[in-house]
Amino acid sequence: MSVLLSHETIVGWLRETDTERLGELWHAADECRRINVGDEVHLRGLVEISNHCIRLCGYCGLRAGGARLERYRMTETEIIACAQRAASFGYGTVVLQSGEDYGLTAEWVAKVVTRIKRETGLAVTLSLGERPPAELRLWREAGADRYLLRFETSDPGLYAVIHPGRDGAPGHLHERLELLRCLREWGYEIGSGVMVGIPGQTVESLAADLELFRALDLDMIGIGPFIAHPATPLGSSDTTAHARTVVGDQASNDELTVCKMLALARLACPAANIPSTTALATINKQSGHEQGLGRGANVIMPNLTPPSYRVRYEVYPDKASVDATSDKGRASLTGRIEALGRRMGSGPGGRRRP
Ligand code: 5AD
Repeated sequence: MSVLLSHETIVGWLRETDTERLGELWHAADECRRINVGDEVHLRGLVEISNHCIRLCGYCGLRAGGARLERYRMTETEIIACAQRAASFGYGTVVLQSGEDYGLTAEWVAKVVTRIKRETGLAVTLSLGERPPAELRLWREAGADRYLLRFETSDPGLYAVIHPGRDGAPGHLHERLELLRCLREWGYEIGSGVMVGIPGQTVESLAADLELFRALDLDMIGIGPFIAHPATPLGSSDTTAHARTVVGDQASNDELTVCKMLALARLACPAANIPSTTALATINKQSGHEQGLGRGANVIMPNLTPPSYRVRYEVYPDKASVDATSDKGRASLTGRIEALGRRMGSGPGGRRRP
């Protein structure tokens, strides 16, 4: 049931306010999810291995120079212990995420990946930012299966202002897209995604984001609301620091708009793995995960980072976290998934290809 939605239709859905009509979108997305990826909800154990970052992204609390942030790097032993925990909880995948941190040397990352593969057999997803091709290939050779690199917006002008280079020069969207294409060629499953409601982002540009997901044939798609972080240019109350004044209509960063984007992403890329993101759960702590799972998503990424580090991985404030480590927390997560008529996934849960 891949629905080839036109640009106008997508924009129409993004502007739709009628609850009854929106019910049709939720239903179509949920059916599409069921038919293409089934009722399993795959759990990926997220380990935030370092919060050091050399980049200056205008929205992110880990940006270089954020003096208030206490920086950390996990040790190899600590990371392996987290991976073993993921395996013991029955997860099929561990996700290693960090800022763009060259303190994590290519050889060291390769060694960690090799050990995780050998000692746990889990699928390994990396999300370590833009790194040189030789390093990304080395990690693939070491056994890494997937790579996540969000493009955040498909609007090259907005991309440029929110991703300044270290010299202050604007960032280039096409470089990131080229890297995604290379990752795919080297045999990675590739993931990307966007934030919804970035200051300066229009509804039209969200529609273009969805079209780019489809053009890239993404295996994984992460979508969450933009959440203002007061210690960043985009989150500061000084509106002159904001990326751009929007001429068209500014996209909202509310739950409804995020859910529309999830549902439309499912229809655009029926076989993709789509998480119900932490950012969505952050703006609706009660039932954000359920909202996402009911509107196209099929993945949850419980955070397995040791708590003392987790609080310092502050990409945005007040980040939600499902308790997935205590027996009680895990039983509750299973209960929440089963209450939706779904079940816990088993195996690596990679992209299904015909
Ligand atoms: N609001 C929402 N999401 C954010 N991220 C970083 N900063 C913010 C923010 N202020 C997201 C990025 C990144 C993920 C780890 O967190 O999209 O990919």
